[in-house]
Amino acid sequence: MLFEKPVGPNGEESGFPVLINGYGSARRMALALGKENVEEIGNEVGALVKAKPPAGLGEAWDLLKKGLELRHARPVSVGRGACQEVVKKAGEGGGGLGEIPVLKTWPKDGGPFLTLPQVITEDPETKERNVGMYRMQVLGPWEAALHWQLHKVGARHGKKYREMGRPMPVAVALGGDPANAFAATAPLPDGIDEYMFAGFLRRKSVSFVPAVSQPIQVPADADFVIEGTVDPAGEPVDEGPFGDHTGFYTPVDKYPRFRVTAITHRKGAIYPATVVGKPPMEDFWLGSASVRILMPVLKMNFPELVDLALPAEGIFHNLVFVSLKKQYPYQAFKLMHGLWGAGQMMFTKMIVAVDEQVNVHDTSEVLFYLGANVDPERDMIFIKGPSDSLDHATSVPNVGSHVGIDATRKLPGEGYARGWPEECRTSPEAAARAQTLLAAARGNRR
Ligand SMILES: Cc1cc2nc3c(=O)[nH]c(=O)nc-3n(C[C@H](O)[C@H](O)[C@H](O)COP(=O)(O)O)c2cc1C
Repeated sequence: MLFEKPVGPNGEESGFPVLINGYGSARRMALALGKENVEEIGNEVGALVKAKPPAGLGEAWDLLKKGLELRHARPVSVGRGACQEVVKKAGEGGGGLGEIPVLKTWPKDGGPFLTLPQVITEDPETKERNVGMYRMQVLGPWEAALHWQLHKVGARHGKKYREMGRPMPVAVALGGDPANAFAATAPLPDGIDEYMFAGFLRRKSVSFVPAVSQPIQVPADADFVIEGTVDPAGEPVDEGPFGDHTGFYTPVDKYPRFRVTAITHRKGAIYPATVVGKPPMEDFWLGSASVRILMPVLKMNFPELVDLALPAEGIFHNLVFVSLKKQYPYQAFKLMHGLWGAGQMMFTKMIVAVDEQVNVHDTSEVLFYLGANVDPERDMIFIKGPSDSLDHATSVPNVGSHVGIDATRKLPGEGYARGWPEECRTSPEAAARAQTLLAAARGNRR
């Protein structure tokens, strides 16, 4: 939805249009990445990691990284960028963030929030770049709160700068090629540059120019770039409340203060935003695309894995349905532990494992096998681990329990000695006969 002339809270017309829901369906998500469907990209990733089957997840990511480099996806530096057609520096007048039509979504939100920012930081030691999508609350014309959660790479970079006592340069890109913002959401491991991944997706390297007020590179085609610093000695600020993608308000918490030193933009820039709330919302399509694209990396590491779905109701981390080809007892539990050890999958609160023929994208079908095949005491495991910062159900923030439920048919080696019953299925002959009769009936009606 493109709002050509958005109007601010005091009735004033903004100088910039707002684009919302640009990724809000499977089709739009694929178009944003220049493809007919995202599975095409998954197949390409599969080809990259299959070249030399990896021995573990770490090796699979390394292979992907090398593959991306070979595909000429490396970012390149250029002299000039459209993102700097207009330059506004702090201290030289102007309304700063107030000139951007940043949305306040829910009635009890603590203020306006930038919801689709590509937050660019660097590791102060290795200089490795990270891009993460971390929302930002506008606190004033030239300051904002940076909501990088405890477990995210931006937070890790921030901690290093704080320990070194050095001001941290941060750049926030908005818009530009739609693959860039998508890459910022993708759960890539530390060390893979999201902009290299975006270059791979678009078959074209992302071009960079130096920021105008900070020692950091910014994508040349962005609609807006907000440059600034986080002070290592600065007290964290109140961030929130924010009506979150959990469907609940995330309460006020402490996050770093981001001081804006410059805002640059294209002439005719469009401000991109998303609205989050009870699922399904736009972020569901972003998350689903990541799962489809990165699935081959998981499959390489877990040969029994057939398919995996994060149903919208589970808002990413609450619920994962996984199907597997079971060969030996307790293999479903083995797979669950592996998934909990795979990057941001560590946040998954509940994993339901089903047999290979079950369609994990059909929640009703999964629930049928969950009900039918589970003896709760025998088939559930509980573990403790880190939890998503947004999970309000855990007794204390950031840690909690996780449950795995094995809804596959049980083997004798799993303590089941009764002989698993056969499922009722229509015989192929009866099904074919029914089809013939139905076709004839349709023909008669015509
Ligand atoms: C619309 C949207 C908003 C998000 N907001 C945040 C946020 O405010 N804070 C956060 O830590 N993660 C947020 N995420 C999730 C991160 O972008 C995601 O975990 C990403 O992989 C983090 O990158 P990193 O591993 O480089 O830290 C958001 C994701 C989406 C799709």
